[in-house]
Amino acid sequence: MRRRQILTAGAVATAAAVAAPAAAAPGGPGGNAAGKSPKGPGTGPKKPPGNGRRTPPGLAKKDTFAFAAGGTLKIGCAVAGGGHHTSQDYPDPFTADQEYREVLATEFTSLSAENQMKWDHLRPAPDTYDFSDADAIMDFAAANGQVVRGHTLMWHNQNPAWLAEGDYSPEQLRQILKDHITTVVSRYAGRMQQWDVVNEIFDDSAVLRLEGNIWLRELGTGIIADCFRWAHEADPDSLLFFNDYNVDGINPKSDAYYALIQELLADGVPIHGFSTQGHLSIRYGFPGDLAENLQRFADLGLQTAITELDVRMDLPEGGEPTQEQLAQQAEYYRRVTEAALAVEGCDSLTLWGVLDKYSWVPGTFPGEGAATVLWDDFTRKPAYDAIQDALAEASGRAGHPALRD
Ligand code: XIL
Repeated sequence: MRRRQILTAGAVATAAAVAAPAAAAPGGPGGNAAGKSPKGPGTGPKKPPGNGRRTPPGLAKKDTFAFAAGGTLKIGCAVAGGGHHTSQDYPDPFTADQEYREVLATEFTSLSAENQMKWDHLRPAPDTYDFSDADAIMDFAAANGQVVRGHTLMWHNQNPAWLAEGDYSPEQLRQILKDHITTVVSRYAGRMQQWDVVNEIFDDSAVLRLEGNIWLRELGTGIIADCFRWAHEADPDSLLFFNDYNVDGINPKSDAYYALIQELLADGVPIHGFSTQGHLSIRYGFPGDLAENLQRFADLGLQTAITELDVRMDLPEGGEPTQEQLAQQAEYYRRVTEAALAVEGCDSLTLWGVLDKYSWVPGTFPGEGAATVLWDDFTRKPAYDAIQDALAEASGRAGHPALRD
């Protein structure tokens, strides 16, 4: 089955739930408060001809990821904001881009905070919490009936300078971390489906970041269990995850998690999930043992999730992906979706962005891009269809026949 069709945005009656705050979005969809071109350095690759069709009027609601997923799993997206976006030549996507908000509201059943719940965002100063952007995501999700994944509580990156360069004793640091986890998790207690409690603690050689992670360096490895215990105390209902990249397949890094988690579970530490981020590139082979890897964590009694899926590629001269690249990318997205659907207890699949112009990829991987499932004008890449088809196949919710070839 191949779907014919394209976007939803303008056609879907979600205006109330997705309306941008008053100060934002003069100029309508993609509007730009600063009056600058919305095409900044983050602008995505060019779109080859042949795309750009739109949904027949009246069918838009049955032509979304959310509809296709049905009850099979939560299909999520990171909400763009903070991080690399702050140095780009466009206004804050989540407040300024109305069409983007409509896509978030209509396509997805789960949202993640791309940067808005990281330490550097929430903790401008030692004694200050700034929850405004994080709260906005929670409110938007509630208005649209979506769940939220919190990201993240303990990490070696994006910590504020006052912390990273501060002169604190181990006792003080422990108190700072406990206070942070307790305050942040309590604030969203009962409203956060899953938390990435501990993020990326193993390095690329599958060794704990005992130097690079401030918490492990200053407080020792016992702090890992404490993070989960504090989070669980603050919200007994939220599912608490380890999250990392390059742990899609069975490899030394995922083996390291497998061993660590078994130890911690034996000690009664409240760990509920293991998630792989899923930052993939078609430059590398597909991790064909993804389902098998998730399954072994499921067999420990854990939930699993794919939390940050994107599939980048080396952009040819001129920045336009070839049809072959797009087909290969679609295949990767399809296989990840099928793997998630195949594993019992893998109930959450999140895309790390949906538009190339907002993606973190071009700024992080020079020469690579086109990693998301929509073109910058919101029309669909083959990757969109691949995910939607895989979801519909599993749920039996293929939508209206007019949407199928
Ligand atoms: C990235 C964001 O997408 C960027 O906006 C930011 O500048 C850097 O971080 N692993 C993670 C995510 O856990 O938090 C990272 O997100 C991508 C890699």
